[in-house]
Amino acid sequence: MPGIHLLWAEAPQVASDAQPGQFVMVRTSEDHDPLLRRPMSIHRVGENGALALLFEVVGRGTNWLAQRKAGEVVDLLGPLGCGFKIHSQELLLVAGGIGIAPLIFLAEKALAEGRRLVLLLGAKTADQLYPRRLLPPDVEPVTITEDGSLGKRGTVIDLLADLAEGAEQIFACGPISMYEAMAAMVNELGEKSVQVSMEARMGCGFGGCAGCAIETKQGLKLVCQDGPVLELTDLLW
Ligand SMILES: Cc1cc2nc3c(=O)[nH]c(=O)nc-3n(C[C@H](O)[C@H](O)[C@H](O)COP(=O)(O)OP(=O)(O)OC[C@H]3O[C@@H](n4cnc5c(N)ncnc54)[C@H](O)[C@@H]3O)c2cc1C
Ligand code: FES
Repeated sequence: MPGIHLLWAEAPQVASDAQPGQFVMVRTSEDHDPLLRRPMSIHRVGENGALALLFEVVGRGTNWLAQRKAGEVVDLLGPLGCGFKIHSQELLLVAGGIGIAPLIFLAEKALAEGRRLVLLLGAKTADQLYPRRLLPPDVEPVTITEDGSLGKRGTVIDLLADLAEGAEQIFACGPISMYEAMAAMVNELGEKSVQVSMEARMGCGFGGCAGCAIETKQGLKLVCQDGPVLELTDLLW
């Protein structure tokens, strides 16, 4: 996946408490520039307190993180926020691009609990799709690419209605445009619970600065504390 990095860290205190959908605030400098930590979803939790982040280089902070070498120390704060809440047996996970980041941890937990799931995986091109060999065993992805280089041509939205039929709960992570399109599928998604992982620029990550506040149907919510996972039907467009 060009421009995407997988970073494993030994972080037993964070890993032992982490739930799918939660995130960490990562310090992305040795000095104070950039000053603010950057939020990153917990991608996977491994054995012996290992924790993985999957991230795309988009600016200074993620560029700094991508330069880290094995053995260096990275300062993580977490786990933070409210993650995904699973209360059904038949799950549909929908990943748009780098939105796969929190969904692998969710898939691993759901499978360990004996639930069944379908993973709908979309990207612009085949080389931007999450590698199949890194998927948890037992996960058969349904893939779609915008240029048609693997799977059907289109976006996850084009396959969503068909796959949603067999699902009791839907979990999604991707760009805001994907959530907007999902919110418009009132007839196809019906009364199903759809939880999405929201993005917002964050100052502190734990409810102290109000920098991540968004207006919802339930009033103002802090993405870092009330979310990042929110019900799609609560969001305003
Ligand atoms: C809860 C949460 C979990 C996240 N998990 C992941 C993850 O697992 N993997 C991953 O690659 N990214 C994730 N992100 C996004 C990530 O935090 C940003 O890409 C990162 O902060 C950018 O930092 P930077 O210094 O590299 O870029 P900057 O120099 O700060 O910005 C570069 C560009 O990215 C845009 N940008 C920066 N931060 C955000 C943001 N939060 N939302 C939308 N656009 C932004 C800016 O507008 C600008 O155009 C997550 C964000 C949130 C809120
Ligand atoms: S980032 Fe500070 S309150 Fe959410």
